[in-house]
Amino acid sequence: MSSKQPHRDPGPGGLAIETAGLVKTFGDNRAVDGVDLAVPAGTVYGVLGPNGAGKTTTVKMLATLLRPDGGEAHVFGHDVVREADTVRGLVSLTGQYASVDEDLTGTENLVLLARLTGHAKKAAYSRAEQLLDAFGLGDAAARQVKHYSGGMRRRIDIAASILNTPDLLFLDEPTTGLDPRSRNQVWDIVRAVVGHGTTVLLTTQYLDEADQLAARIAVIDKGKVIAEGTKGELKASVGAGSVHVRLRHAEQRPQAEEVLRVVLGARVQLEPDPVALTARVGGGPADGRGAAEQASRALAELARTGITVDNFSLGQPSLDEVFLALTGHPSEPSGAPGPDGSDSPKDLKEAEAAR
Ligand SMILES: Nc1ncnc2c1ncn2[C@@H]1O[C@H](COP(=O)(O)OP(=O)(O)O)[C@@H](O)[C@H]1O
Ligand SMILES: [Mg+2]
Repeated sequence: MSSKQPHRDPGPGGLAIETAGLVKTFGDNRAVDGVDLAVPAGTVYGVLGPNGAGKTTTVKMLATLLRPDGGEAHVFGHDVVREADTVRGLVSLTGQYASVDEDLTGTENLVLLARLTGHAKKAAYSRAEQLLDAFGLGDAAARQVKHYSGGMRRRIDIAASILNTPDLLFLDEPTTGLDPRSRNQVWDIVRAVVGHGTTVLLTTQYLDEADQLAARIAVIDKGKVIAEGTKGELKASVGAGSVHVRLRHAEQRPQAEEVLRVVLGARVQLEPDPVALTARVGGGPADGRGAAEQASRALAELARTGITVDNFSLGQPSLDEVFLALTGHPSEPSGAPGPDGSDSPKDLKEAEAAR
């Protein structure tokens, strides 16, 4: 991508972002309720939380789009309130600063934005072409953005936000609602962006996304950070994975539940589907291999006791399971989605259509 390396000195302690007791209230809703973050420069930092947790509100305060009601936030050592102009020069926020025009082609959009931000005409065209190619949009360069798929649209949004390589890029749920292939493409882009020296703050509702991309992760719930650490640390506290089992016969479920509970030593969740069960494996210091081993022991024990298993999978814990492990309660939206709101794929489509 760009040959320009971010030049900004990291803030004190090599931090791109440092917040202390950050608060934002909407009426009596404490959307962000005393958030402390320390984001090392040059890394991807994941902020993981369910819909309504306060992710977007936090990002907006850091990007100077919303004024905090309490606490402090510094970006590369600059106060987001007192030095808002300086901060604005260092950050980029996908889909907010760089909004693409549906009626323009991919090339036209990027050239226009590049021209607006001071690129000479020739440089604007070459930067646009470079980004479109890098983001796999070369073939779609001459097509109007309104004919792009959701994944293409998300990629051009990100391309637009890194036209001028920012020191800090906010990606607010960049893959919500995307199919797996498009998600992977966005992930590759994030890796490339951070490879060029940009710090990325990525919010997500998907544990696997944070796991794929982020060096450190903060889990947020109802405006508060409820866990923070490297992904290794986080996984050690929530378990390395979860087994999902589907039985042939619903009447064998109580027996299967008991077998799993004994073999795995973990709480077993009965799914709404009467033949399905889920259990956590590999808690504590266990790694992925430990989880697979435990799962196969469980499977063998089910077979030995004459329980017929139709389907079996070992996956990463879902966000729900992470929340259950960290808080003892399932994740639930902590309020109605905000006006800008949306995070479900359906809302996202509407939000896109409305733009
Ligand atoms: N502009 C706003 N006015 C009133 N309430 C808002 C506004 N923006 C967000 N909220 C509320 O603040 C809380 C956090 O929202 P948000 O930061 O958008 O969460 P997330 O991005 O994690 O889904 C929610 O309860 C939401 O309804
Ligand atoms: Mg949000």
